[in-house]
Amino acid sequence: MASKTVLILPGDGIGPEVMAQVRRIADWLNDNRKLDVAFDEAKVGGIAIDDEGAPITDATMQKAQDADAVLLGAVGGPKWDNLPFDQKPERGLLRLRKEMALFANLRPAMVFEQLVEASSLKPELVRGLDIMIVRELTGGVYFGEPRGIEDLGNGERRGVNTQVYTTSEIRRVAAVAFELARKRQNKVTSTEKANVMESGVLWREEVERLHQEQFSDVHLTHMYADNCAMQLVRQPKQFDVIVTDNLFGDMLSDAAAMLTGSLGMLPSASLGAADANGRRKAMYEPVHGSAPDIAGQGVANPLATLLSFAMMLRYSFDQGEDARLIERAVENALARGLRTADIVQEGTTRVSTSEMGDALLDELGKLAG
Ligand code: IPM
Ligand code: MG
Repeated sequence: MASKTVLILPGDGIGPEVMAQVRRIADWLNDNRKLDVAFDEAKVGGIAIDDEGAPITDATMQKAQDADAVLLGAVGGPKWDNLPFDQKPERGLLRLRKEMALFANLRPAMVFEQLVEASSLKPELVRGLDIMIVRELTGGVYFGEPRGIEDLGNGERRGVNTQVYTTSEIRRVAAVAFELARKRQNKVTSTEKANVMESGVLWREEVERLHQEQFSDVHLTHMYADNCAMQLVRQPKQFDVIVTDNLFGDMLSDAAAMLTGSLGMLPSASLGAADANGRRKAMYEPVHGSAPDIAGQGVANPLATLLSFAMMLRYSFDQGEDARLIERAVENALARGLRTADIVQEGTTRVSTSEMGDALLDELGKLAG
């Protein structure tokens, strides 16, 4: 029996294609590096709707709760776009986040030296960039009540969502950001709209108070979310850790992602509270979506999902050395000039999803041998 279990949820669109490559690399680690992980697989998203009648079944939820970690591909696609809101593929993902209480979403935006030219910003602005966005993931307007669309009569309707945060929701995610900062550049930028929203005022006050109580050694600044979006594309290297709410985090992390050249490169980790043994419930997923426009063509970039797997090794299994091995294999494959379609440039070689997988295995073999 393996000592750890990982539930794999490939999902929709390019999810299964990229996950197949990650599985090859995970199997290699099991065989060559004593990874000692047993993989189980289940359905989430549109495929689960089609085959099992719900975006995620109770049985799959239970497997996710029982696993040491979950690795997810992507969910959604045009086929399911017109379903009622509470039956959409995305509900599967949101249910996982909510019921596993994964309140802290870590989204690193790192620029690989080999991809400096792939960024839409000037090389000098992004070279060496290393930002960590900590996005609150189980609260705010994504889950706030009341919500819904009501008929007011006379052909008029009203859509309502509620932005809501409590003291403890703010403090626990801010604490994750401060702790991460201590291991990095020791800088936290907390982002909200305290100039127009009460929830933003509370956010700022609670972050400030926690800072004074427990983290006064960390350098803290506050920034309005719109300004933060502007600063991210103006002078991204001013940031170390950014902590923000669910919705602003969704938007700022997409913007930060693009600084690195491609959404296809960005991993993420979603963590719950630590239990008595210091273990956290965790799910790892690429920041990119299901990309239905390129699904099934074998051209998708598997690196974001692979780097998410590396984050799992680091944060859930304390196997930083194997995580680093994967990251070095990625760097070496890029240094060989191999690029999937999303990051291909003049002078580089375009490869398919599985050819990138071949190259990574090849590099791993060299690094380990
Ligand atoms: C993300 C995605 C999701 C979100 C969607 C697919 C529900 O955009 O993980 O950033 O909005 O959180
Ligand atoms: Mg998003």
